[in-house]
Amino acid sequence: MTRKILVTSALPYANGAIHLGHLVEYIQTDIWVRFQKMSGNACWYVCADDTHGTPVMLRAEKDGLTPEALIARVHGEHARDFSGFYVAFDNFYSTHSSETRECVEEIYARLMAAGAIDKRDVEQYYDPVKRMFLPDRFIKGECPKCGAKDQYGDNCESCGAAYTPNELKNPYSAVSGARPELRTSEHYFFKLGACADFLKAWTSSAPEGAGGRRRLQPEAANKMREWLDSLDDWDISRDAPYFGFEIPGAPGKYFYVWLDAPIGYMGSFKNLCAREGIDFDDYWGRDSDAELYHFIGKDILYFHALFWPAVLERAGFRTPSGVCAHGFLTVDGAKMSKSRGTFITAESYLALGFDPEWLRYYYAAKLNATMGDIDLSLEDFVARVNSDLVGKYVNIASRCAGFIGKKFGGRLARTDAAWLGEFRDAAPRIAAAYEQREFGRAVREIMALADAANVFVNDRKPWELVRQAGREAELHAVCSEAIEAFRLLTLYLKPVLPKLAEAVEGFLCVAPLLWSDAEAPLPEGHAIGAYSHLMKRVESARIDALVEANKESLAPTAAHVQVGEEISIDDFMKVDLRVARIVDAARVEGAEKLLRLVLDVGEAKPRQVFAGIKSAYDPARLVGRMTAMVANLAPRKMKFGLSEGMVLAASSEEGPGIFLLSPDDGALPGMRIK
Ligand code: 2FM
Ligand code: ZN
Repeated sequence: MTRKILVTSALPYANGAIHLGHLVEYIQTDIWVRFQKMSGNACWYVCADDTHGTPVMLRAEKDGLTPEALIARVHGEHARDFSGFYVAFDNFYSTHSSETRECVEEIYARLMAAGAIDKRDVEQYYDPVKRMFLPDRFIKGECPKCGAKDQYGDNCESCGAAYTPNELKNPYSAVSGARPELRTSEHYFFKLGACADFLKAWTSSAPEGAGGRRRLQPEAANKMREWLDSLDDWDISRDAPYFGFEIPGAPGKYFYVWLDAPIGYMGSFKNLCAREGIDFDDYWGRDSDAELYHFIGKDILYFHALFWPAVLERAGFRTPSGVCAHGFLTVDGAKMSKSRGTFITAESYLALGFDPEWLRYYYAAKLNATMGDIDLSLEDFVARVNSDLVGKYVNIASRCAGFIGKKFGGRLARTDAAWLGEFRDAAPRIAAAYEQREFGRAVREIMALADAANVFVNDRKPWELVRQAGREAELHAVCSEAIEAFRLLTLYLKPVLPKLAEAVEGFLCVAPLLWSDAEAPLPEGHAIGAYSHLMKRVESARIDALVEANKESLAPTAAHVQVGEEISIDDFMKVDLRVARIVDAARVEGAEKLLRLVLDVGEAKPRQVFAGIKSAYDPARLVGRMTAMVANLAPRKMKFGLSEGMVLAASSEEGPGIFLLSPDDGALPGMRIK
């Protein structure tokens, strides 16, 4: 039975480049989709750029572009990167499209009609200079819990506390530096709270016809249970200025980007339907018998497993058959980092001549159906590609194909030898692994077969047979069977290595391989073409070049520097800055970041100051050096004792560390700095 399947990957934001972290998802989805298509299912794969919201609006402004011009440019870059990695969407569209607008407006109208929308006043920070309400990420200030400076409005990177922007101390706008004021405005809410019962049933159920497969992975369903205990209504509107769709009948109010983003899946599909003559309702109607899967990162589960199904349900559409969440990518065991050069863009990978199928293979070998993170170990990447793909797989053809051409006019002998039975029998097992998104398992099965084929070739030694008179038939059989093994391995690897498979199909003179081609061996007498080398090895030196090319200068760039609110000289003079000599420095038991400094500022008694510089300084080496301090800061009682001032140090979010200030030689403790 052919299944009807609609598949999506998360929509990338239209203000940034595609990097290897993104590609985990697109490659994973693309492999799954290619497998479905090879299996004869009607499977459509759509995506789009996620174009709306404040970050896109501000980024365009900074670049001197209209948002439309920015999203058009980025769309071109994204499309180039995806096709460079053979991610073959049936449609890669944009949420800023007439189809998405139509779908958004229809859903909104249906939600209104169903009584699922509420309006109420919300008090929110407003930037009086920039004249806009500020999203949480654009408000910074001191953490209400630990006092760390320059923390975002939603959580503290220093102590990990979560809070609302209104709790930040000394908040400032990250856009203009101005002190934001609280203002009230009317917002539109989706009544999510009323969907709790529906969501409880939905998150733990298996859709019909899915063979018992649940909609959510077990880890995801657990997370949902926590969230379902306290469901708040969802704020779906934002005030102008905003780049997005204006809410019908509500001038100056826009749909929040996270409302229209998943509707962008529908918009992209609608656009595809018009092109391909597909019936939209067949896939999205409430009674649809098609399957719908969203591949996403675990960080956006909340949007896809709570808001989205609830919105669809209330608006009378079908809900997803499954949400497939994956983990994050780490590189060499750590978060991708611009300063270390491990925040690798898709563009740089391709520009440096790396083969996209190396990465596809590496990811496939590591992927499974859980939400666990996956690590790209650069050394392992080189080893695996070279040993598996080149050393095991390609090697089979390169050692046998030549003899068929040279000795047998390119024609194969019989290929139905008994030892190949296990190769054919593996097809349903490998298919099941692909279907279940257990790609690592599929790859292990395939490589075990490649090992078996190599053992066969090594045992039968065609390169020796060719030199022995009277053994032509054996040589012909060995090479033909090895080629058949190679054909089957290619078929099994085709969802992962589509380009290579295409080259092999050309060389074997066969039609594009389908999953059902596993059943029938190549017939006796089949003519194959000339073999030319299929894949090169990765050289380690290339990896160094890749990391080097992705290292970002550590100096804060103009784009990162945001000078604070203007102050008067009188304001500045209120700060009593003094030269201080560090007379003692020590680690503080139980404090991860702090050193305890004893400072001589020319007073009768030295001051005690706790400074968050432990990561950068060995206390022993600080003793005796001069620095600068704020001498009139109100003393602060800390867990470890009283802090009587603050030393001055420079740092930036991008790294590379913390740098204590010091005066030129000759300055004395207690001198005023101004
Ligand atoms: O997290 C993100 O990158 C979002 N742009 C994903 C949107 S997915 C969907 F809902 F549209
Ligand atoms: Zn904190």
